[in-house]
Amino acid sequence: MQETLQRILEEYRQNEGNLITILQSLEAAFGYIPEDAVNWFSEQLDIPPAKFFGVATFYAQFHLKPRGRNIITACCGTACHVKGAERIINSLTRELQIPSGEDTTEDKEFTVEKVNCVGACSIAPVVIINKEVHGKMTPERLMKELKRLKKGK
Ligand code: FES
Repeated sequence: MQETLQRILEEYRQNEGNLITILQSLEAAFGYIPEDAVNWFSEQLDIPPAKFFGVATFYAQFHLKPRGRNIITACCGTACHVKGAERIINSLTRELQIPSGEDTTEDKEFTVEKVNCVGACSIAPVVIINKEVHGKMTPERLMKELKRLKKGK
């Protein structure tokens, strides 16, 4: 980790970066914003950790907890809700045994996120699996996709 942090710090200094560029680099390197990394940058740059976390919690692109190897994003916008998004999400969390209040499986293989309209209402309900959009999703089709992803472990 130390080497990565040092590299990000050098890039920050060379490019006259800002907090967002540091957070983006951390997110790219680790898949989330590790608290230890924020504390390290805080000391190096004499910026309070609260400033980093203030920015990180404002933008949806940053994550404060480790995420799964596979990201499943379920749309919960109105059109998707009407077309059964709830059923799909319930089947997902049940199949993946994601504990209540969590969004990632214990083995860090899957993260399930809910978002509002992703702009593809005509093919609702929509699920995005590892950045690939799947329209007219059903719990059955989703279970097939999960099996495929689990096999590709
Ligand atoms: S509500 Fe789901 S894509 Fe618009």
